[in-house]
Amino acid sequence: MTERTFSIIKPDATRRNLTGKINAVIEDAGLRIVGQRRVRMSRAQAEAFYGVHKDKPFFGELVDFMTSGPVVVQVLEGDNAVARYREVMGATNPANAAPGTIRQLYAESFTGNSVHGSDSPENAKIEIAQFFTDADVVG
Ligand code: CMP
Repeated sequence: MTERTFSIIKPDATRRNLTGKINAVIEDAGLRIVGQRRVRMSRAQAEAFYGVHKDKPFFGELVDFMTSGPVVVQVLEGDNAVARYREVMGATNPANAAPGTIRQLYAESFTGNSVHGSDSPENAKIEIAQFFTDADVVG
């Protein structure tokens, strides 16, 4: 089933000029980049985006990090895109990421783990709507 997921290329990756290399892994996996924009997240945007984690010990560090440099927000489309992108990213903790995954290849740390991807189709819709209008996504 064709579906869409939301992706962020994080500041650790944009800082090292890895946008193209990460996009190549995404496209080689059969996912299509149907929306993409480079933005500087505001604190309010990062806090709202990661609202589910607001009581976690790593929340402050996460918001500081996500606002520390530019990110690339993306909409990816493909067969089972949510699950497929999670495979392509690898485990959240890069120490556990499988060979060939974006995080195994490029992540620096648990916080600086290069990419974010939605964890469910429902959350994908919510996350996409935080950064894209329908007109900005061209399938
Ligand atoms: P992400 O998929 O963007 O969602 C929340 C982020 O918090 C996660 O990726 C990690 O980069 C970051 N994070 C930092 N520390 C932890 C932790 N101990 N557990 C889970 N996520 C963490």
